[in-house]
Amino acid sequence: MHERILVVDYGSQFTQLIARRIREANVYCEVRPPEAAAAELRAAPPKGLVLSGGPASVYDEGAPRLDRALQSRDLPVLGICYGMQLLALDAGGAVRPGSREYGPAVLRVREPGDDLFHGIPHGEPLQVWCSHGDHVDAPPPGFLTLASTADLPVAVFRRAGRPVYGVQFHPEVAHTPRGGEILRNFLFRVCGCSGDWTPGAFAVEAVERIRAAVDGEPVVAGLSGGVDSAVAAALVHRAVGDALTCVFVDTGLLRKGERALVARAFEDMRLVVVYARAEFLEALKDVADPERKRRVIGERFVRVFERAARDSGGGARHLVQGTLYPDVIESMSSGGPSAVIKTHHNVGGLPDDMDFELVEPLRDLFKDEVRRVGRELGLAEEILGRHPFPGPGLAIRVLGPVTEARLAVLRETDAIFLEEIEAAGLYDEIWQAFAVLLPVRSVGVMGDARTYENVAVLRAVTSADGMTADWHAFEPAFLRRVSARIVNEVAGVNRVAYDISSKPPSTIEWE
Ligand code: XMP
Repeated sequence: MHERILVVDYGSQFTQLIARRIREANVYCEVRPPEAAAAELRAAPPKGLVLSGGPASVYDEGAPRLDRALQSRDLPVLGICYGMQLLALDAGGAVRPGSREYGPAVLRVREPGDDLFHGIPHGEPLQVWCSHGDHVDAPPPGFLTLASTADLPVAVFRRAGRPVYGVQFHPEVAHTPRGGEILRNFLFRVCGCSGDWTPGAFAVEAVERIRAAVDGEPVVAGLSGGVDSAVAAALVHRAVGDALTCVFVDTGLLRKGERALVARAFEDMRLVVVYARAEFLEALKDVADPERKRRVIGERFVRVFERAARDSGGGARHLVQGTLYPDVIESMSSGGPSAVIKTHHNVGGLPDDMDFELVEPLRDLFKDEVRRVGRELGLAEEILGRHPFPGPGLAIRVLGPVTEARLAVLRETDAIFLEEIEAAGLYDEIWQAFAVLLPVRSVGVMGDARTYENVAVLRAVTSADGMTADWHAFEPAFLRRVSARIVNEVAGVNRVAYDISSKPPSTIEWE
């Protein structure tokens, strides 16, 4: 097993970013809510703990407290912001409430010899970024102040003689330019990690785990044409070879040209194509609620896979899914501070009476890590470099009830948008781009006649992992060209809008 860091999530908006920074340093880490972290710690001690920030004040009623179980004598701990305040309060330090500070600050390091500041030039002002309501005013007994800023007498502290640190600023954000080094010092010098989390090592281990889990039995994998299911299937193929049957379901909710691409990319594997358009559309008839759509689709997929497993998959009991870490986080309803955002069709949308054991080798990974694993496995760039596409497909982009006719309008609109993005050489700098069909019509005028037609919305976002995203700023000339082409070439659309919302507060998909 890998060396592991546990990130205890007290609800900070940056928790996932902490996890990413740690994993970018080739150290595996997992994010857990406080209670789960305490329970896990007893079962399998990690190399170190990071306590995240959080929106609460330590003085709020019901604010999370530091669980005693999270403190063992030699376990390295790094408390960030709220995490630091918890350490301070627990050890009898003074936390001053209501001292809000957001933005840049300059850190003055008092103990440059400490491991945490290894390699950081002494005497230079160190730019850091703060975002907090309370702060530590005086170190607890037995703690040393390692650094301060003009407004923070104790910006960094350490428990004397123990590997327990607190930082009031955020080392994980890009606005703390040397934050990565500070985190790496914690990982490598304080926790003693070696950086053994590489895509190659992950692939080798995943293959072994899959082999043990399926134990020589037949397996089916759902292929969607997207990166995640392709990488998951490739890992399983490596583990079990021809015992794997890949199933591609033509749901009728796919983008233009999808089926041909999948057939081309997976010609080396046993691939079964199931035509299930009528079945999906029938199940979706009159379903307008987004969460219901996702459940209906999740269930249909499983029923189709069950049939395919029986008919062409050798009676497989194992189903491979390309579920990712963000799918799990956003679908999670309990056990953590995160709210349910969307029921991802392949997580919360699965029926209870499913006949399969799930094999989800990517469940702990972010999208970019999946791409790196895919490259390691030698998958085609044509698949690896693709924008993400949600399993429920165009059904969650035709807002309101889904019909064949509305799907056709959306499919054509979407294809033009993507064609223009490719032609402009913008595909790789955009995380995801697609069109959405709104459930409203608007009035237009074409060739001197009144029209009353659909409104299409274009969405293009930049993102590192889909957890947060920003809208892409196209040149006006590009948008003008795309809009003109859509209105001229797609019958049924007379208005095109561009979505300028970031995530949060919006999400990437509209449903
Ligand atoms: P949101 O809309 O939650 O999307 O900001 C984040 C990323 O997840 C994709 N997505 C899904 N992928 N099944 C999937 O396989 C789903 O049910 C699903 N819902 C959203 C979305 O396209 C974006 O990349």
